[in-house]
Amino acid sequence: MRRLWFGLWYWLPRRPPWDSGVTPPELERFVVSHPPGRAIDLGCGTGTNVVYLARHGWDAIGVDVVGRAVAKARRRAREAGVTCTFVVGDATRLEVSGPFDLALDIGCLHSIAASGRAGYAAGVARVVRSGGTFLLYAFAPGGPAVGLTADDVRATFADAFDVVGMEEGKGRPSAWYTLVRRLDRAAAFEAVGRESESPRGRRSSTAVPTCRPIRARLTDRHARLHASVHEVRRDEAARGVSSGASW
Ligand SMILES: C[S@@+](CC[C@H](N)C(=O)[O-])C[C@H]1O[C@@H](n2cnc3c(N)ncnc32)[C@H](O)[C@@H]1O
Repeated sequence: MRRLWFGLWYWLPRRPPWDSGVTPPELERFVVSHPPGRAIDLGCGTGTNVVYLARHGWDAIGVDVVGRAVAKARRRAREAGVTCTFVVGDATRLEVSGPFDLALDIGCLHSIAASGRAGYAAGVARVVRSGGTFLLYAFAPGGPAVGLTADDVRATFADAFDVVGMEEGKGRPSAWYTLVRRLDRAAAFEAVGRESESPRGRRSSTAVPTCRPIRARLTDRHARLHASVHEVRRDEAARGVSSGASW
């Protein structure tokens, strides 16, 4: 139903009210303070912010459920002479592959029914790398959208993100939330497990390619893994949060 409503807006001769073509200062501040990486904009509309990110050196992808919005976004990127990708897709069933350093949502999640939030959160958690940022702008409930409270945001993303910042929005009741992806413990444990198991598996086959030293290679890999765990812990300590991980 909301999809139809959004779709209709993109067929009207005048621009939808949100489609200002202006990148908000909250995103500008993020971009000037972080090195470029990979970014995904969920509910990208006509691509204003994807094009902005691409202009600033980011490898950026926009996803929107409305095909006409995506067509307009592609035109915007062509006219701006930047390379970026746009995909027609549903953010509650995200089919894009990560990892991304930044996920952005300006006004998409707040229009999704509460029943779609778990699927949305699982998709964002899957594609944002550990330590990556999720920048979310959402109306509070009681306005034209479904809306989210700060508690809704915390609860929706509790499995994988810490809310590290919240700033009241201007105009209608709304807020900008900054979330940081926690170290994915399951994946890290799996990685440790895989690394520990792999030599046994290889040993039992005849495909051991070289003797360098599987032990040496493993030691390197473990060292890298542990370095990244320490990095996450340092980062958490600096931000005054804890994932509760007991490494
Ligand atoms: C308020 S507009 C904001 C557009 C854009 N972020 C901007 O700031 O200009 C919300 C956008 O989210 C899109 N949208 C709504 N539900 C979606 C969903 N489930 N998956 C992907 N996009 C969705 C709409 O089509 C619309 O383009």
